[in-house]
Amino acid sequence: MIMKQAKDYIIFPLDVSSLKEAKQFVKLLSEHVGMFKVGLELFISSGPEIIRHIKDCGSTRIFLDLKLHDIPETVFRAMESIANLGVAFTTVHCGESKEMLKAAVAGSKGRVKVLGVTVLTSVSSSDIHAAGLRPEFASDMSMLVMQRAAAARDAGCSGVVCSGFEVGMIKEKFGQGFTVVTPGIRSSAGSMKKDDQQRITTPARAIQNGSDYLVIGRPIRDAKNPQEAAVCIAKEIETVL
Ligand code: C5P
Repeated sequence: MIMKQAKDYIIFPLDVSSLKEAKQFVKLLSEHVGMFKVGLELFISSGPEIIRHIKDCGSTRIFLDLKLHDIPETVFRAMESIANLGVAFTTVHCGESKEMLKAAVAGSKGRVKVLGVTVLTSVSSSDIHAAGLRPEFASDMSMLVMQRAAAARDAGCSGVVCSGFEVGMIKEKFGQGFTVVTPGIRSSAGSMKKDDQQRITTPARAIQNGSDYLVIGRPIRDAKNPQEAAVCIAKEIETVL
């Protein structure tokens, strides 16, 4: 088994609008991150071409983060198409229904790992309150995250996406084999600008809590030297491995 290195924990989201820019980041960061994430902005503008390009550039794994949320039949069929692209991970929202989650897993045909998005790290307790969810979920968001993680696990998802705060609880309840991906990461070494993220943790803290992968976007993308920023974050991860 190949040992996971510090950089392998880093998922860099290609949050750019053009294929040209995305290719520049792939070239710049291939050696410094473990996986590239392709999200809605880039997939809508470039389609599967970016997936082919990342593959052509080497063996870096790909996370196609489309956060599906639709009726079960539509999710099933979309997931069948995703399964043909040869990516490692993809996502579906957990909050709607178990049928939607089951359809996502069925459509994946075991050819892509499906992760359930529990509660976005940009969501605050006042958002939960405003959405009319149970008051205890607004006062303790981890309860809602755990409920959604359980739904994902019961439907057969390979893991979940959640903030660094709930990772420990999720690993304890659902086991080490249940993958946890954590966004909302802000390095103690770099800028602590939160942007639109609410529930943020440092790379070291998220790894100590048990995260398998960290999604780290703007702290790398917007750095003066993105390569240096990625290396610096990997060094921080290294200290807790
Ligand atoms: O590090 P930064 O805040 O720039 O990360 C933004 C990225 O994290 C986006 O690609 C967004 O889709 C992703 N994200 C996620 N799940 C969340 C919150 C953000 O995948 N709960």
